Amino acid sequence: MSGNPDFQLFGSIAHSPIATVITDARLPDNPIVAANRAFHDLTGYSEAEILGRNCRFLAGVGTEPHAQALLRAAVAQRQPALAYLTNYRKDGTPFLNAVMIAPVLEEGGAIGYFLGSQMEVKGGTRLPEPREQRAQRLVASLTPRQRQVLAHMIRGYRNKQIGPLLGIDEKTVKMHRAALLARLGAATSADAIRTGVEAGLGINGPG
Ligand SMILES: Cc1cc2nc3c(=O)[nH]c(=O)nc-3n(C[C@H](O)[C@H](O)[C@H](O)COP(=O)(O)O)c2cc1C
Repeated sequence: MSGNPDFQLFGSIAHSPIATVITDARLPDNPIVAANRAFHDLTGYSEAEILGRNCRFLAGVGTEPHAQALLRAAVAQRQPALAYLTNYRKDGTPFLNAVMIAPVLEEGGAIGYFLGSQMEVKGGTRLPEPREQRAQRLVASLTPRQRQVLAHMIRGYRNKQIGPLLGIDEKTVKMHRAALLARLGAATSADAIRTGVEAGLGINGPG
């Protein structure tokens, strides 16, 4: 994983406390190419057991078709999204999963990867209200420039691409990115993207 420079974009998902996977959207059926320790802790599957598979292996008989349809549409349109659906651990126990997905574009603007993170929702049908409220509060505390950078990160743009889009240089983009990660309390860019999508900057499905 560390040998692939593409993954440095995320400051290495290994550092995230949130279950996270990366899929390669250029390969047939969008297979997982990396997963972190938190994903293993949540689902019971090791990275080796899931590499090369589409994330739908977590779904099962009780998985909500409308939530799967939302993810299918988001993948097809290369859009960020948040969906709530029943998934199953390796031992067969179900859990409600708040899945966030976001595209990662290549330099030319074509889709490269998808970033995905999974969070168990306990005792309800949605993420606990405080988490979404917290995400909205945190995003509201960003400067307008930081919010613009975050909005572009969520859409899959890289520092090099965000600069020209905002009319600033790459170094300045990096500075804003570091500052917004700090404000959001995010360990990695992947976590910052998740917070932005939770705050409503992507396609949010009903619980
Ligand atoms: C990065 C990424 C992460 C995903 N994570 C999950 C997940 O944790 N659980 C799940 O049921 N589906 C997940 N999906 C969605 C499935 O891969 C698939 O898109 C969904 O089941 C709808 O497509 P299908 O009808 O072809 O199965 C994820 C998709 C992507 C791109």
